[in-house]
Amino acid sequence: MLRRLAAQQPDSFAFTPANQAWAEAQMTKYPEGRQASAIIPLLWRAQEQEGWLTRPAIEHVADMLGLAYIRALEVATFYFMFQLQPVGTAAHIQICGTTSCMICGAEDLVAVCREKIAPKPHQVSDDGLLSWEEVECLGACANAPMAQIGKDYYEDLSIERFTVLIDQLRGGEVPTPGPQNGRWASEPLGGLTSLDGDEPSEEANASIALATALGDTVKRIDGTEVPLRTPWHGPADADPDTEVASRDQMMHPDGPDGRQGGRIPGDSEPDRDRGDSSDGYANVDGSDGKAKARPDIDAVAPDPAGKPGEGLGEGARPAVTGTTDDDGEPAGTKTAAESTSTPDDSTGSAKG
Ligand code: FES
Repeated sequence: MLRRLAAQQPDSFAFTPANQAWAEAQMTKYPEGRQASAIIPLLWRAQEQEGWLTRPAIEHVADMLGLAYIRALEVATFYFMFQLQPVGTAAHIQICGTTSCMICGAEDLVAVCREKIAPKPHQVSDDGLLSWEEVECLGACANAPMAQIGKDYYEDLSIERFTVLIDQLRGGEVPTPGPQNGRWASEPLGGLTSLDGDEPSEEANASIALATALGDTVKRIDGTEVPLRTPWHGPADADPDTEVASRDQMMHPDGPDGRQGGRIPGDSEPDRDRGDSSDGYANVDGSDGKAKARPDIDAVAPDPAGKPGEGLGEGARPAVTGTTDDDGEPAGTKTAAESTSTPDDSTGSAKG
């Protein structure tokens, strides 16, 4: 799908002071000279602030990161998460139109959008509140058909339920995300058929619980609601909730380059009973549980002793019969320098 910048653009862009501080803090997560790695969170923050990603915003982020504008434009125009034209002020609805969703009724949902929002994708409704588009698979195929609205997934949609959702959004409500047909997650519609002693005790799955607890769904970010925390700068900048601040227990406080860390300095190292490997299985039995990320500089592998095949047992090397010549080869064979085009006088033979 062709993604272009909107024809009408504002003259300028500036982060709110709080968002500017947040963006600058994000840039310090990366080693010196690698600030370009912060492009996705910064573009996303700009979009959350404005509702859509303007050209001045893209250029502002590129300037902050020391990037050529085309580099930032490449990222902004590639990902569907970035809206390149104005969207509804209440919500922008992304209908998945890929195989599972299409089979299960995505086209009906698109028809509802055309009728209740605007006839064309990316067209803002007359009241300015809603807009919609069709996107590719959003990875919730087992709950088809579905739509992403704001930061959340609304799954197992029907025409009726989707119509109600749109009315709720238009009325300023934020409907509860997740499956809309009573499913807890993506279990069979008729209920669990295995592991059925394990019914969850929680009312909603974790993703719904998170959305409900944070209220961070279709709301725009203005910088006032998200505390600025930079725990990698030291404990004083960490979240006062130590449980939250120390969430990434596997990361060393000093980080790979001595500046970034997840664990609070002074915290004890987590138990790694299978070693350092991320999958927990690559550790060598009998080692001290410390895998080496890379060999020591100047480390040279020792010369292998013996000859290829030696020690592999009887039959691992071809048995040579016949006599040998001056080169130590079977009599009659010749080196390249000795060879002629008709080596028919060879008398040696090799048995595999
Ligand atoms: S096909 Fe719709 S989420 Fe995958």
